[in-house]
Order: sequence, then C-alpha cells, then structure tokens
Amino acid sequence: MRIIHVSDIHFWRYEFNPLRLLSKRLIGMAALLWGRARRFRLEGVPRLVERVRRLDPDHILITGDLTTTALPEEFRAARAALAGWLDDPDRVTIVPGNHDRYTLWAHRSRRFERYFGAFAPRSVFPWLRWLDPTTAILGLDPTRAGVSARGKLPRSQLIEAIQMLAVEPVRRLVIACHYPVAVPHRFEHELARKPLINAGELARWLRTVGPHLYCCGHIHAAWAFRPREFPNQLALNPGAPLLWGHAGHDPPGFLEVLLEETAVTVRHHAWTGESWEVRPLHHDQAFFPMSLGHD
Ligand SMILES: [Fe+2]
Ligand SMILES: [Fe+2]
Repeated sequence: MRIIHVSDIHFWRYEFNPLRLLSKRLIGMAALLWGRARRFRLEGVPRLVERVRRLDPDHILITGDLTTTALPEEFRAARAALAGWLDDPDRVTIVPGNHDRYTLWAHRSRRFERYFGAFAPRSVFPWLRWLDPTTAILGLDPTRAGVSARGKLPRSQLIEAIQMLAVEPVRRLVIACHYPVAVPHRFEHELARKPLINAGELARWLRTVGPHLYCCGHIHAAWAFRPREFPNQLALNPGAPLLWGHAGHDPPGFLEVLLEETAVTVRHHAWTGESWEVRPLHHDQAFFPMSLGHD
C-alpha cells in the first residue's frame, strides 16, 4: 500500500479584509501571518498535485493547516486547487490543523468540516478509518479555536480512542494528529513555542500502543525517525510542501510511505527548485507484527 502524506500547505489569499476577522488581536496576528504567508509559494501547488497523482497512491493523508486564517476563501481555494486529489473521498483522509480553526467563528461553525468533512469517516473525533483489513488511520483533533498555536487533546477524545483500539485492534496502525509528540533534537525549541499542552497524557498512552506510524505536521520540516521515548513509534512529518525550511536549507516536499506486510519504507519527495528529488528517509523490514497474536 502506498500512502502519500502531505501537510501544512497553508493556502492564503491576497484579498485581506480585516472586517472579516472582527478583532484587533486577530487583525494583528493575521497581518503577521499574511507577511509570512507570502513565503508559501502557491504557484507550486499544481506541480505538487501532479507529482502526487503520478505516484498513483492508494491513499492520501493530509495532516492539517490547509489554510492560514481559516477564511472561507482559503478553504475554497484549497478545495479548488487540490481537486485533482479529491475525486474519491474513500482514498483521501484529512484532519485539521490549528490554522484551520483560526477564528472562533470558523471553529463554532465547523467550517473545516463544511469544506473537508467528506474526507473523514465521521464528523466527531476520534475516529478509526480502515484502509484495508489490516491497516487503519486513527484520527485525533487537538486543535482549539483561536489564534493560539498551542493545542490540547480533550481527555474524552483520548479515552474514546483507547476504547476504540481495544475493541478493534489494528495490526498496521497509522495515527493522524496535527501536533507532533516527539521531534528531532533541532526542532525542540520550535515545538516548545507551539506545543500540545497536554502532550504528557497522550505520550503516556502512546508508549503502551503497539507499532504505529505517528503522522503529524505543524513544524514545517520533513522527518522520519524512531523517537527514543516511544519505542514502538515511527514519527513522520512531511514538512510544508510550498516552503523552503530553516534558512533555505530544507527543500519543501511530501512523504511517500510504502507498507508491505511488516515492512515500512519512507521517502521524501523534495522540490529542489528545478526538479523533484527522491530521498530515502527510513526503511524497516519488520516494523509491524505479522499478526495481532490472536488472529
Ligand atoms: Fe503549519
Ligand atoms: Fe500548525
């Protein structure tokens, strides 16, 4: 099975109407974001959409921050520009990021769900979505309304997720959650500025879960690594596909994740400015178990 993992596209629009945001605090934050948004080169979207399509993935997973300030225009732009991926909702899964809940009204009116709700098995988190008889995505949503970049996973969501997996164990588990729980050392400072504030609770549970891929975004850098604190986890982040990361050294791109029986292979497709380059990030021949022990 070939899964394409994309995150943090951050659509934005030139038309900036402050009245739409209705709060000084929001306008200030939004102005900052608009400055930042211009670094996200939207002209790269068609190239990205085409590259992913050519890989003919079985499934596309998008882990949030499709937009910048959760305005309807941004959601509409995202729907239109990504149309080439979205014809079959059974083959696309999307969870929200903090930027997709940027205003209280966007959150209350469930704007993300209005535009992208079709790409999840139900409108309430958590949920489990089976991709084949052995592979399922567990969707979590720790985003909160408002400009804070800090997330919090409601305890009720965590408890329900634990119960779901107890009832329906998954041999090849993929967890989709916008916020990372473990990052490579050089990103620790950045995560400290915009963390999941109750990451400890989630972390305690994750240490008890069997082998799983933890697919996140939020920090705009690509990685695939085995965190020491989560021995059964392969942590994956595709980075932002339109943004040259950290001092222009990290090329933007997305991840291709191949699952074959027990094996996992991860490649980063990076846009160098002229062409796509494929960089192997991780390979483990025996990451997932052969069976769950009782089947
Ligand atoms: Fe982001
Ligand atoms: Fe984010």
